[in-house]
Amino acid sequence: MTSTPEETAPYGTGPAPAAAPIKRVRTHHLREMKERGERFSMLTAYEQYAAQTFDEAGVEVLLVGDSASNNVYGNETSLPVTVDELIPLTRAVSRSVKRSLVVGDLPFGSYQRSPEQAYDTAVRFMKEGGAHCVKLEGGREMAPQIELLTRGGIPVMAHIGFTPQSEHALGGYRVQGRGDTASRILDDAQAIQEAGAFAVVMEMVPGDVAGRVTKELAIPTIGIGAGPDCDAQVLVWQDAFGLRTGKMAKFVKRYADVHGVLFDAARAYAAEVKDGSFPGPEHTF
Ligand code: KIV
Repeated sequence: MTSTPEETAPYGTGPAPAAAPIKRVRTHHLREMKERGERFSMLTAYEQYAAQTFDEAGVEVLLVGDSASNNVYGNETSLPVTVDELIPLTRAVSRSVKRSLVVGDLPFGSYQRSPEQAYDTAVRFMKEGGAHCVKLEGGREMAPQIELLTRGGIPVMAHIGFTPQSEHALGGYRVQGRGDTASRILDDAQAIQEAGAFAVVMEMVPGDVAGRVTKELAIPTIGIGAGPDCDAQVLVWQDAFGLRTGKMAKFVKRYADVHGVLFDAARAYAAEVKDGSFPGPEHTF
């Protein structure tokens, strides 16, 4: 698979060189990056300014995750969030990016019942939300869903290992694929690739198992708590950039203290309003 020149090169008319700058990230670019041994990054995004910023920063993939449930809507888990709540966030993100690939995350209960249910939900994410592709959780048991969506023109990112929507079935937040159960992760990965998924998220899987899956699959693997040998990494931005405070999972690295910046700014503003120093003459008509 090769890229068209207009998608990869801002100038010239000849065939695009292998690693020409990508103007708009498409699913085949991610596969080509894997083939070249080039890693890429993915972050969650749920609204305009974060999406614009991450897009400008060169993050290849933005996931409008069902983690909006606990990062936007104030729930404790990802289970309560609905399709109707996620679609406006997806639309905000897809309208705000120029380059990043936007993934709509199908929430709990919106695709598990049947391939047809999955297709109808995914179509809403694409038509109403402007998503470029969708993500769903599950391995071999989701192959029929992945096959139907892929045949119907909807690129699918799968999600295996620890799948938060199955938290109660899995007995809580725990690493999947340790010891004898590693073969289950490999089997799921093969099944979703055969079904047509263009990439797979692996969450909380031992690093050596994730490394084996990455070697065996032709499609890119995206790790979250799956060690350094995946083709890509994903984090929830509020965790990685410090908007959320408190206890974090072991796999989260904190790159910034956005909560601290906002807190200090809010305190300064409130104090200046109280003492009358804001607004000053320069802010007054
Ligand atoms: O919803 C989400 O944020 C996710 C990532 C953790 C991969 O599924």
